[in-house]
Amino acid sequence: MDRINKLDVFYRERLVGTMALYERCLAAFEYSDAWLADGFPISPFSLPLEKKVFIPKIDPLEGLFGVFSDSLPDGWGRLLTDRLMLKNGMNPKQYGNLERLAIVGDSGMGALTYRPSVELGQKSQERSLDEIAAECAQILHEDYNGNLDYLFEKGGSSGGARPKILTKVDGEDWIIKFPSSEDYENIGAEEYDYAMCAKECGIEMMPVRLFPSERCEGYFGTKRFDRLSDEENGRIHMVTAAGLLETSHRIPNMDYHLLMRLTLQLTNSMEECEKLFRRMCFNVFAHNRDDHSKNFTFLYKEEEQRWVLSPAYDLTYSYSIGGEHATTVNGNGVNPGMADLLAVAKEIGIQGATARRVASQVNECVEERLRKYM
Ligand SMILES: Nc1ncnc2c1ncn2[C@@H]1O[C@H](COP(=O)(O)OP(=O)(O)O)[C@@H](O)[C@H]1O
Ligand SMILES: [Mg+2]
Repeated sequence: MDRINKLDVFYRERLVGTMALYERCLAAFEYSDAWLADGFPISPFSLPLEKKVFIPKIDPLEGLFGVFSDSLPDGWGRLLTDRLMLKNGMNPKQYGNLERLAIVGDSGMGALTYRPSVELGQKSQERSLDEIAAECAQILHEDYNGNLDYLFEKGGSSGGARPKILTKVDGEDWIIKFPSSEDYENIGAEEYDYAMCAKECGIEMMPVRLFPSERCEGYFGTKRFDRLSDEENGRIHMVTAAGLLETSHRIPNMDYHLLMRLTLQLTNSMEECEKLFRRMCFNVFAHNRDDHSKNFTFLYKEEEQRWVLSPAYDLTYSYSIGGEHATTVNGNGVNPGMADLLAVAKEIGIQGATARRVASQVNECVEERLRKYM
């Protein structure tokens, strides 16, 4: 593959703008004139709709604006991409972010697509979920590269650390996840129980299912919120909190106070802040401490010209660095409780009585439904 120093960015077949390499390692970005006339800012804080060349910093996203960094595979998808590059005689270290975005092409999460695109994998035969899980486990445990093409085709563009595939289920777009080498085998059933409990707590979730397995209690799957039905043929633009703030989810540097302010500024809606409050309560009471800046996403509703919080995802019993919350609650990552939750609510302007009622309701529901995980 040749080095790439210029890449066009599209949204539903409309040219958003162009990225070009500046000083060999920074992907500068400029909106197209057509997009400036009738588009929207794809990342409002760092890429407002203005005619100029925007230049990113090198750290912490390797010279890429966060909204484009969101399009890159992480953990699992990156591992597959690197293995497949090696298999094709390419040294992954010799290629930068523009080549990696070209490999993502139009297969990425969210709405943005990149051209020219580069094909890496080859089409291969369908497999059962148990076969896929076994292949994922093999890849994680050894230098196996037998079925890379298939897994790459299915999950090479995905985000997140766990092995997963992006696939059609009854004509709809779904994500199905498999245990990572650090998970216990029934993590799928746990994520399912967490999702059902979150729904009961009044948290918005996409439809979820536990897909049958002969090896474990099942694989967790969820319908994608960044895809519309085939007839609508649409893709929804999204950006994570990490992307909006030009930071890395690997650095635990957020507090829910900040996330609240971000939500209010972006969505202009106290209703969205109340949604976030409910999620924060759930994360605290259900011990979902891997609440890092890529586990919060905002969707752009083009028809209404506004941003909203995406449905919740990736809810499990988890830890971040040192066992703490990745996103601290009123400064407390070790053992946040009711007082910290209420302090976050108060600062953003959620009424005390409302906050107390929501927090107690979530607490009771979690205690009842997720007791066995605590
Ligand atoms: N229902 C969904 N629709 C669209 N994108 C999703 C959905 N659930 C998760 N994602 C995206 O996929 C990424 C990985 O999913 P996640 O459940 O966080 O996996 P992991 O356990 O590997 O972190 C997330 O960071 C998010 O960007
Ligand atoms: Mg995740």
